[in-house]
Amino acid sequence: MKNQKVIVLDFGGQYNQLIARRVRECNVYCEVLPYTTPIEKLKAENPIGIIFTGGPGSVYLENAPHYDPAIFEMGVPILGICYGCQLMAHTLGGQVTEAQDDSAREYGKTLTYYDTDCKLFKGLPAEGISWMSHGDYMAKVPDGFKLTAHSDACPNVAIADEARGFYGVQYHPEVNHTENGIKMIRNFLYEVCGAVGDWTMGDYLKTAINQIREKVGDGKVLLALSGGVDSSVAAALLARAVGPQLTCIFVDHGLLRKNEGDEVESIFGNMDINFVRVNAEQRFLDKLAGVSEPERKRKIIGEEFIRVFEDEAKKIGKVDYLVQGTIYPDVIESGTGDAAVIKSHHNVGGLPDYVDFKEIIEPLRLLFKDEVRQLGRELQLPEYLVMRQPFPGPGLAIRVIGEITKEKLDILRDADYIFRDEISKAGLEYSINQYFAVLTNMRSVGVMGDGRTYDYTLALRGVTTTDFMTADWARIPYEVLDKISVRIVNEVRSINRIVYDITSKPPATIEFE
Ligand code: XMP
Repeated sequence: MKNQKVIVLDFGGQYNQLIARRVRECNVYCEVLPYTTPIEKLKAENPIGIIFTGGPGSVYLENAPHYDPAIFEMGVPILGICYGCQLMAHTLGGQVTEAQDDSAREYGKTLTYYDTDCKLFKGLPAEGISWMSHGDYMAKVPDGFKLTAHSDACPNVAIADEARGFYGVQYHPEVNHTENGIKMIRNFLYEVCGAVGDWTMGDYLKTAINQIREKVGDGKVLLALSGGVDSSVAAALLARAVGPQLTCIFVDHGLLRKNEGDEVESIFGNMDINFVRVNAEQRFLDKLAGVSEPERKRKIIGEEFIRVFEDEAKKIGKVDYLVQGTIYPDVIESGTGDAAVIKSHHNVGGLPDYVDFKEIIEPLRLLFKDEVRQLGRELQLPEYLVMRQPFPGPGLAIRVIGEITKEKLDILRDADYIFRDEISKAGLEYSINQYFAVLTNMRSVGVMGDGRTYDYTLALRGVTTTDFMTADWARIPYEVLDKISVRIVNEVRSINRIVYDITSKPPATIEFE
């Protein structure tokens, strides 16, 4: 069965992925395509609805992104958001100008009044806060359109030509600041486009299994398992579809957190697949001996990872398919919507050049991260794995500052474990997006019992972020920090001082190296 599909036509807005996620949250499948997509391709997608995103431009400027006006003849409902709304108005004969006086230029939370006779606002309160971000103004709405929402400053916040199924809103319904915004998107999908809600992870799982079986036949499949969310979910999916034909190679580079390698093995080692755990700790430690420069560490680990993977893959011989855990944001960011983005193994290095395989399969390439997690739950993976926070490919090597030794790694593992344990006990594990300990290379004087100590300083790092491109340091309550600090200095040898990192990104990065 093919899912109904909505196309999010991307005009360069910062919220393009968020719109797509919202649509999917409403159980409707959608894809993001760039505004340069030819109309023939758009028609071939056979969408039940189209959403124009916002964008940074002004529609009346020469180089502003436009679209073939024939899109309005497709007989498909369209929702224009912000720039998308202005583009719709501009293309269909309205007039959009730069707001002359400041009151018509709106940014931020704005009290908005809605016409609840309009399908977009059906069943919703007649007023509420909407999130505005526009400097342009629809001076004249196109023929056939009526005004369906206004604010105190602006008479035309939303427009609609209900007969043709065209709706435009100046604000952003996809952001949480807009009250009932998601319900408006839902109304567009269900009241206007005739969505039936056929996008669920349970159904997706069944379809994906069938597709994988059809494609793979009785071929051999190889997957590099890192224990991260994406590769784990991909592995569990492939295991369900073609278990005995699948080999998962888990390169344990000895740079994982406490118990992590055993956890991965306990889940995947018991599945009906060929699971290979390569204990390569010594290989990595040997290569890393004496190295303290961060970029050299990363490079060495990336290269060594590939070598180990290749050595194991050679033992298996020719495989037909190599699985990659590419997810949808990587696909969208490639800009074309269909260029294969080869995600590096374990996010460490590149693909091994001479592992012999016929084709790559990317079973998660249509899914957002939260959908990957949901699929993991459908596949009965444990919650701690499904909700695992990002962990850098080079692992603890970039959290031990300076030279890496097994002893330092063990100290860090113990301290990091206590940090995570206490954060979890305090119920903070999902409000802090990433948190970990770092063994600094600094030693200082302390006193323990009656004796002098000269031991390491451990740094704790916790950040809140949505995209990991920018981040704020997490305001962990003092009492929790206190507990963590007391436990670590008491329970972990060689640490006599704990500091908490209170820098945001930028100027710092999340990791120390
Ligand atoms: P930074 O330190 O650049 O990190 O602020 C941003 C996010 O990326 C993660 N990170 C990595 N992830 N391979 C990865 O897969 C890497 O080499 C790597 N380095 C950093 C980091 O943990 C944070 O979530």
